Amino acid sequence: MLIRKKPDIASSEITDSRLYFGRRRFMRSAAGLILGSALPSRLLASRPAAFNKISPSPYSTAETPNSYQDITTYNNYYEFGTRKEDPVANAQEFDPWPWSVTISGEAEKTGKVNLEDILARHPLEERIYRLRCVEAWSMVIPWVGFPLGDLLKEFQPTSKAKFVEFVTLNDPSRMPGQRVPVLRWPYREGLRIDEAMHPLAILAVGLYGEVLPNQSGAPLRLVVPWKYGFKSIKAITEIRFRETAPVNSWNQSQPGEYGFYANVNPKVDHPRWSQARERRIGAGLFAPKQDTLMFNGYAEQVASLYSGMDLARNF
Ligand code: MTE
Repeated sequence: MLIRKKPDIASSEITDSRLYFGRRRFMRSAAGLILGSALPSRLLASRPAAFNKISPSPYSTAETPNSYQDITTYNNYYEFGTRKEDPVANAQEFDPWPWSVTISGEAEKTGKVNLEDILARHPLEERIYRLRCVEAWSMVIPWVGFPLGDLLKEFQPTSKAKFVEFVTLNDPSRMPGQRVPVLRWPYREGLRIDEAMHPLAILAVGLYGEVLPNQSGAPLRLVVPWKYGFKSIKAITEIRFRETAPVNSWNQSQPGEYGFYANVNPKVDHPRWSQARERRIGAGLFAPKQDTLMFNGYAEQVASLYSGMDLARNF
């Protein structure tokens, strides 16, 4: 970042989940063989029981997912370095378990919740989503997670809760990138409450059927498939219900370039490059770029959230 058709209902994914996850596991372990230390066995050993049952989701795209290697070696995660190859190299010592999330602000119930307890209450699904980065590349990722709105409703947001703010862990002793002032730490992100409650928005805890590797945002990250990838805040430790819009990290850092909404929109260019097309990671150097779809292909589901809004101004 510093460079300074409707979602296809995946009928194939709904059929035989045993066969399906068998195939996924095979693909992941094939990638694991190549990756070696990028999939530490201690993480696999300590995966929560919730991972024993993961259902496929009708919201998944039918597009072929990128390899585990693509997804876990080309990352933006400034807490572990600013280059794409830094997070996989620098995040392996980070131990995200046990983990808790503090809920505060405009809600009837607030306080600290243990992630294992959250997982015990929220059945896990696999959601295969396109991730479209604001830098004009994309991937297809088989997340494991649960709807964000289902968690938020548990805390009974009040009528004053118009926005939701997410905050990443702030611990420079465990996140070496936070010792460098490339962003104002901790990383923050925000959604309008109706965006956060939309069934497509999920909290992800896994990838390819296993717990998230650290570089992908372990143990808990946001995934909002109709928005640019930078909305996908990683290692979330705080969720705040707010009356006013929170400031998100990239908007704070470069307000002319990154807005609050960050909806994928091929008609609204970044000030320094076009957003009309995208390069699919892993497709090969000579593969043609593909057209970027409005709301990353989820227009039918989410366009109504923005009716009447000027999306060039609210970028
Ligand atoms: N979350 C935190 N805490 N720190 C970051 O630097 N980078 C964002 C987002 N979430 C970032 C973050 C950006 S710019 C992108 S494009 C996505 O994570 C990348 O997610 P990925 O590495 O899983 O592809």
